[in-house]
Amino acid sequence: MNQFKNVALAGGGSIGVAFALQFARAGKSVRIFEQSPERCALIPGEIDARLKMLSAAGLLEGEPEVVAARIEVTPELQSAVANCDLVVECVPEVLDIKRELFAQLERHVAPEVPLCSASSALPASSFCSELATRQRCLIAHPGNPPYLIPIVELVPAPFTDAAVVQRCSAYFQQVGMSPIVVQREVEGFVFNRLQGALLREAYCLVRDGVASVEDVDKVVRNGLGLRWSVIGPFETADLNTRGGIAAHARKLGPAYERMGKERGQNDPWTDELVANVVAQRRAMLPLDQWEARVEWRDQQLMQLARMRKEHAANDASS
Ligand SMILES: NC(=O)c1ccc[n+]([C@@H]2O[C@H](COP(=O)([O-])OP(=O)(O)OC[C@H]3O[C@@H](n4cnc5c(N)ncnc54)[C@H](O)[C@@H]3O)[C@@H](O)[C@H]2O)c1
Repeated sequence: MNQFKNVALAGGGSIGVAFALQFARAGKSVRIFEQSPERCALIPGEIDARLKMLSAAGLLEGEPEVVAARIEVTPELQSAVANCDLVVECVPEVLDIKRELFAQLERHVAPEVPLCSASSALPASSFCSELATRQRCLIAHPGNPPYLIPIVELVPAPFTDAAVVQRCSAYFQQVGMSPIVVQREVEGFVFNRLQGALLREAYCLVRDGVASVEDVDKVVRNGLGLRWSVIGPFETADLNTRGGIAAHARKLGPAYERMGKERGQNDPWTDELVANVVAQRRAMLPLDQWEARVEWRDQQLMQLARMRKEHAANDASS
């Protein structure tokens, strides 16, 4: 049931092409439905160029031409979706376009096939509610480009069948992606909510003359982002403070609450909320393994440091 062979992508822009590469490099057959003749003509060249790039970086199994041969581009929806096991819609973020396309997909795609949308912000309930087979519809929001950023957020609408969500999760794992299931529809899902929180504060810091644009980016590039490529914000807090995240919340919670209030935000880390986070962290990492995990983090950061050093040396010698 969780094996699949054929993927149909509707829309061959940035995300459609990038998803095609990811599915094809994992051995799947891909058809891209693209309505613009200009885009149809450009897509094969884009695919070849990116596959060669991935191959040169040692990130492609098999020859680029072999992987490229798994991808077809067509201006006809019906031939794109024939015999497909999964559809991922990647058309522009415009409600009417998505609504119309999903109505067409419903007519032409066998009812057991999941219909995903790469939508960044529009939830599935805003354009699938009227469909007779709406239980197979959900969001599969990737990072850009999905052939280099593995996260994909699966966001079911209230009417989406949980079994379909699980099946899609297995499909995306099968092609080397890292799916999470967002528990309910919220604007921006998780990826863009986190990104938005940082970006909103970054704008405030520049507005208030605290830091330049370059320096904000530097703090992320040489600080937060470096760490976040290895561990997330919860694990960071957990590993940065002896006693773990419970101690972190005790020591730094009040300062973070003051910073939030300065921005008109009032979301205190209540005892109950902290207890929930602590319980989840301790289930993943008992405190007696804390030291070992801190060492693991440092090993990971050392690998990154080595890579950055080599990269800087290569840049200097070119
Ligand atoms: N670009 C990103 O960073 C990013 C990241 C994650 C998700 N997304 C989401 O993915 C979706 C696609 O974004 P994109 O950046 O690839 O857009 P894009 O504009 O690059 O590509 C959209 C493509 O869809 C085609 N198209 C338009 N209407 C169509 C139709 N009815 N049928 C078939 N093809 C049609 C267009 O010709 C175009 O080639 C959007 O919902 C977007 O929000 C984008």
